[in-house]
Amino acid sequence: MKILITGGAGFIGSAVVRLAVARGHSVVNLDALTYAACLDNIASVSGDPLYAFEQADIRDRNAVARILETHKPDAIMHLAAESHVDRSIDAPGEFIETNITGTYTLLEAARAYWTTQGKPESFRFHHVSTDEVFGSLGDTGMFTEDTPYDPRSPYSASKAASDHLVRAWSETYGLPVVLSNCSNNYGPYHFPEKLIPVVILNALAGKPLPIYGNGSNVRDWLYVEDHADALLCVLEKGRLGRSYNIGGENERSNLELVQTLCAILDEKRPRAGGSYAELITFVTDRPGHDARYAIDPTRIRQELGWRPSVTVEEGLERTVQWYLDNEDWWRALQNREGVGMRLGKTT
Ligand SMILES: NC(=O)c1ccc[n+]([C@@H]2O[C@H](COP(=O)([O-])OP(=O)(O)OC[C@H]3O[C@@H](n4cnc5c(N)ncnc54)[C@H](O)[C@@H]3O)[C@@H](O)[C@H]2O)c1
Repeated sequence: MKILITGGAGFIGSAVVRLAVARGHSVVNLDALTYAACLDNIASVSGDPLYAFEQADIRDRNAVARILETHKPDAIMHLAAESHVDRSIDAPGEFIETNITGTYTLLEAARAYWTTQGKPESFRFHHVSTDEVFGSLGDTGMFTEDTPYDPRSPYSASKAASDHLVRAWSETYGLPVVLSNCSNNYGPYHFPEKLIPVVILNALAGKPLPIYGNGSNVRDWLYVEDHADALLCVLEKGRLGRSYNIGGENERSNLELVQTLCAILDEKRPRAGGSYAELITFVTDRPGHDARYAIDPTRIRQELGWRPSVTVEEGLERTVQWYLDNEDWWRALQNREGVGMRLGKTT
């Protein structure tokens, strides 16, 4: 299959690019190369005849139309987005423009391309979204595909809007779509502004390990390579017009997660003078910080036979090792705008 992947120079997109090429798919990576992108993430496939790169913005209708006409993909996997909740609190406009207007522009370009191709039923527009669209859970319960949308941050609201647009283009124009909503990802190439890399890199630098609020917020963690595998599964086997929740079945509070990372680091790179856990520091909470996310993965498991391959313990161990082994990668990104600063603190 020839797949156009948007956002393929980002964290999850690059994992999808690497996996799709490894499985013999042709891949066109469309990415604007924002602050969150890193071409080193796909260096392992950049010389592969199955891989092509197009630097373009999904809001640029002409550029997207040209790329679709040039490469004639069988499917689009749409991952390009502004993705950091804290940045969405400080500067929501970028999130509205890329996540909503950009998705609209991409949908219109895809619809025009699909129409000129004779509206093949086999075409797929796979929209990649987040569990954050469902809002915040109490101590019990899980998000299913039927949970009403209740986004609470500018990021999750912009992703919710993009999900609605994709469904509307399916219902109104018949565009063949599938959607997926995934829980928190972690793993190699995670940009060093997100919690897990921040904790690993601050620990290595002997700096405080910041935890928002009291650390009780619970997330359902999924190893990024498992997410990439799930996305290809949804693309190839997902039922038309349907959405699939993807989760790791690995709920952890932020405090538990950081304590686990400290224990792994204590083993792998012992700190002179005590455990890394002594560096844990509670800081002002994120405004509107959702208490708990948990995914009910019954649909993807029963319909498509997919389940994660890695437990959170194995995945975190691999992740810490990857950061220890790839210092050149993360050092180069630490100079990027906003990295290392506390963002999204004020309402
Ligand atoms: N990170 C998570 O835990 C998570 C969980 C569930 C869903 N998602 C979704 O998965 C997708 C990928 O997330 P990520 O964490 O890899 O994000 P990321 O921020 O690491 O990467 C986003 C990529 O999109 C590109 N991009 C941004 N704006 C663009 C534009 N206007 N035109 C073209 N390219 C643009 C960036 O250059 C970057 O390469 C997003 O849609 C996100 O909402 C993420």
